[in-house]
Amino acid sequence: MRDARQLLADSARVVAMTGAGISAESGVPTFRGDGGLWRNYRPEDLATIGAFRRDPETVWEWYAWRRSFLATCEPNDGHRALARFFLQRGTAGLVTQNVDGLHTRAARDAAGEGAPHAALPVEMHGAIARDRCNDCGTRAEAEPLGDSLPRCATCGGLRRPDVVLFGEMLDPVVLDRAQSMAERADLCLVIGTSAVVYPAAAIPLATLHAGGRIIEVNTEDTALTGVAAVALRGPAGVVLPELLG
Ligand code: OAD
Repeated sequence: MRDARQLLADSARVVAMTGAGISAESGVPTFRGDGGLWRNYRPEDLATIGAFRRDPETVWEWYAWRRSFLATCEPNDGHRALARFFLQRGTAGLVTQNVDGLHTRAARDAAGEGAPHAALPVEMHGAIARDRCNDCGTRAEAEPLGDSLPRCATCGGLRRPDVVLFGEMLDPVVLDRAQSMAERADLCLVIGTSAVVYPAAAIPLATLHAGGRIIEVNTEDTALTGVAAVALRGPAGVVLPELLG
């Protein structure tokens, strides 16, 4: 922790990349490992673009279940510590793979509805609370699932949750933003991700290849532990308040 705090103090530009582990202490299940969602469900049945085209009802039911589950979850001390840190810094630095919206809620809890840009995350895999038309891309507020699947008000196409499904490309603008933030950073905090899903897992490597360092916060070793300058082992909700103050 002493080494990590020193590294943080020496770093002018900090980016943080989070994964499902930061929301674990909010009660949101992770994807991999013990109790992970992909232990009990097959991603190819539920979270792929092929599954959505084949069987949109089942994919919608899965996301509706996740939405209702997330409605019962609150940001934890890890989300709050990051929100405070980036609000104080005043520079955008938060990138997440999570679609759960808990970083945004923590930022709004700390700074109100008009939370400045700096504290709001770049959501690489989208946001589960929003819908998007699968045909024309128009975004819309999510509504509770009714008897028939929701349709786009603009073109009548089938709406889907505004998340990246397996088999889809990430939004190139969002990916470019995350990559350039990481390239310009002296330090990347990698928090609660197994770092196996690309291209998100390459974001910390962009910092590393540009000459910056990595601090990892995770309960376990990951694919990135070997290249981290410091690996802090423990739950993010405990480690981050200690690290970020
Ligand atoms: P994973 O489920 O793969 O990894 C979660 C990580 O969090 C693991 O490394 C755990 O050790 C760690 N962890 C668990 N509890 C923790 C805690 N309290 N504090 C700190 N770390 C903890 O989740 P991601 O890496 O986010 O993609 O998964 C990446 C992507 O795979 C997701 O965005 C999703 C999924 O399929 C899409 O849906 C496109």
